[in-house]
Amino acid sequence: MEHPGSGAHYPPVRAERREVDEAESRRANGPDWDRYADEYQATHGEFLGDVGFVWGPEGLTEQRAGALGDLAGKDVLEVGSGAGQCSRWVRAQGGRAIGLDLSHRQLQHSRRIDEATGIRVPSVRGTATALPFRDNCFDVVFSSFGALQFVADIDVALAETARVLRPWGRFAFSITHPTRWMFPDDPGPDGLTATQSYWDRTPYVEVDDATGEVAYVEHHRTLGDWVALLAGTGFVLERLLEPEWPVDHERVWGGWSRTRGVLTPGTAIFSSRWSPSR
Ligand SMILES: C[S@@+](CC[C@H](N)C(=O)[O-])C[C@H]1O[C@@H](n2cnc3c(N)ncnc32)[C@H](O)[C@@H]1O
Repeated sequence: MEHPGSGAHYPPVRAERREVDEAESRRANGPDWDRYADEYQATHGEFLGDVGFVWGPEGLTEQRAGALGDLAGKDVLEVGSGAGQCSRWVRAQGGRAIGLDLSHRQLQHSRRIDEATGIRVPSVRGTATALPFRDNCFDVVFSSFGALQFVADIDVALAETARVLRPWGRFAFSITHPTRWMFPDDPGPDGLTATQSYWDRTPYVEVDDATGEVAYVEHHRTLGDWVALLAGTGFVLERLLEPEWPVDHERVWGGWSRTRGVLTPGTAIFSSRWSPSR
């Protein structure tokens, strides 16, 4: 996928497909989100809402999706929490939400909104593959376009999620719909013609032209990969939501647009529970 923030604030980059390990993914994506955080919040903050939970660019809210169940009194972890908008909404429902994000700058935005709204989301800097929490301490873990598509060692991230969840705890996350991988990440008509294989898992990488260093990484897994990964880690998949493009929705967000949204799914939301017996 093309970088959501490609533009004036970025060093010139060259897009490639090549293998990238976890260390390189993390080294790239932390600083990348630090660079991009101000623009991301300025562009999307109003749509997200300071105390709002949307699962993706289609604007499906958790209030409508109900992927996390009743949150009152629950211990909740958001992975890839950004400025904590979703966690703040969870707190407003009575859940004890905590945020975790790789980007220091995103967490600074979270603090800024905490102060503006008076709803504080305790947050920690860290990565999805090494959660700094003890075993069995959350009822719910979720991620709204957070870390999962940025992580190379997805099996480690899922094992970490299972470790911190209490038995039968819920795990729900949204990602770019895997079928989008086949198309150019273009919101216009060019984004409707398949140009590459759905089954090619080679990561999308942006390389800084000046330094030759990897500046941004996204990892692709097919729908079948996700089902197998969840089952293999002991998660029971309960729902796969593919939000439709709303009739009155005109927003363009990176490669998401009405032109594409009415024809092809842009977001996949997996909702599962962790089974201790598996
Ligand atoms: C598209 S933003 C989504 C943030 C927030 N959920 C939202 O809806 O605005 C992706 C977030 O994932 C974070 N992230 C990327 N890789 C991560 C990792 N390995 N562990 C934790 N967070 C990560 C980024 O720093 C960024 O804040």
